[in-house]
Amino acid sequence: MKKACVIGWPIKHSRSPLIHNYWLKQLQIDGLYERVAVEPNDLPGFIRNLKQNGYQGCNVTIPHKEAALSAVDIYDQIVRETRSLNTIFLIDDKIHGTSTDGQGFLNNILSYYPDYQIQGKTIFMIGAGGSAKAICQKLLEEKAETIWILNRTLERALELQQSFGSKIQIVHPNEIHHHLKTSDMLINSTSQGMISQPPLEIEIDNLPKHALVADIVYVPLKTKLITKAESLGLKVVPGLGMLLHQAVEGFQHWFGVRPEVSQQLYDLVAYDIAMEQSK
Ligand SMILES: NC(=O)c1ccc[n+]([C@@H]2O[C@H](COP(=O)([O-])OP(=O)(O)OC[C@H]3O[C@@H](n4cnc5c(N)ncnc54)[C@H](OP(=O)(O)O)[C@@H]3O)[C@@H](O)[C@H]2O)c1
Repeated sequence: MKKACVIGWPIKHSRSPLIHNYWLKQLQIDGLYERVAVEPNDLPGFIRNLKQNGYQGCNVTIPHKEAALSAVDIYDQIVRETRSLNTIFLIDDKIHGTSTDGQGFLNNILSYYPDYQIQGKTIFMIGAGGSAKAICQKLLEEKAETIWILNRTLERALELQQSFGSKIQIVHPNEIHHHLKTSDMLINSTSQGMISQPPLEIEIDNLPKHALVADIVYVPLKTKLITKAESLGLKVVPGLGMLLHQAVEGFQHWFGVRPEVSQQLYDLVAYDIAMEQSK
């Protein structure tokens, strides 16, 4: 039996087992995807012993995404640029690391708007955390023109600019409306708007009519930002699909088959979220 897992500390909240075990069952693969709580001190040892413990690899989540870099043998350009990884897999006894969040974000957009082109777009991003970094890396690879960053902590936005250069620009709080007016896409990459987190306070009526609004928050499934954008007739991309699409690459590495992000899977995870919210 082939095995993979997700590691974090704590790890109870992860929905990755639901996703991967759904695919294993649907594709009739003799495999198992587990949830393993790994303390920070045990992280290097756990990663080095993946093979001995019968794992093909693992997903890595909070708080290990940066620390895991020093425990893998090889990492790719995405990890070099973002200094963070979420997926580990083994090839010929070497431990490889990559990050699939940026691809998951892009594939989620393409699942809603298959012909959407990032090239040449002016993008307004709220947030400068770990997922913002992964998303910026992908958007710049796809030749976005400029990414305007609005973040509570200026230093973190400046760090993004340092990592990726002059295509990353910082939004001055007085110029929010000016930049919204000239943006093709608005992304919320913060936790604002998530259940039990502060709301996202931004007035988006100034966005152009052709703009696309993406939120990476997926609890609730439809955030206030998405509902407002929908009411303005804008293109909208809610966050749950990103979670499903980022999982595809890891599954393919570990189990040798590229799984499909189906409506049935979306509904299964959406139901799980709704059940949790109703508690
Ligand atoms: N859909 C998906 O697949 C997916 C994938 C990854 C993450 N997410 C979600 O995305 C969110 C961010 O994740 P992350 O890993 O990027 O976290 P992170 O690295 O901790 O970054 C958090 C970001 O949110 C901002 N923020 C948090 N609370 C705020 C507040 N009260 N007011 C203003 N800004 C606030 C932070 O600003 P400061 O820099 O000022 O602290 C930072 O920009 C989480 O809700 C996570 O669940 C979704």
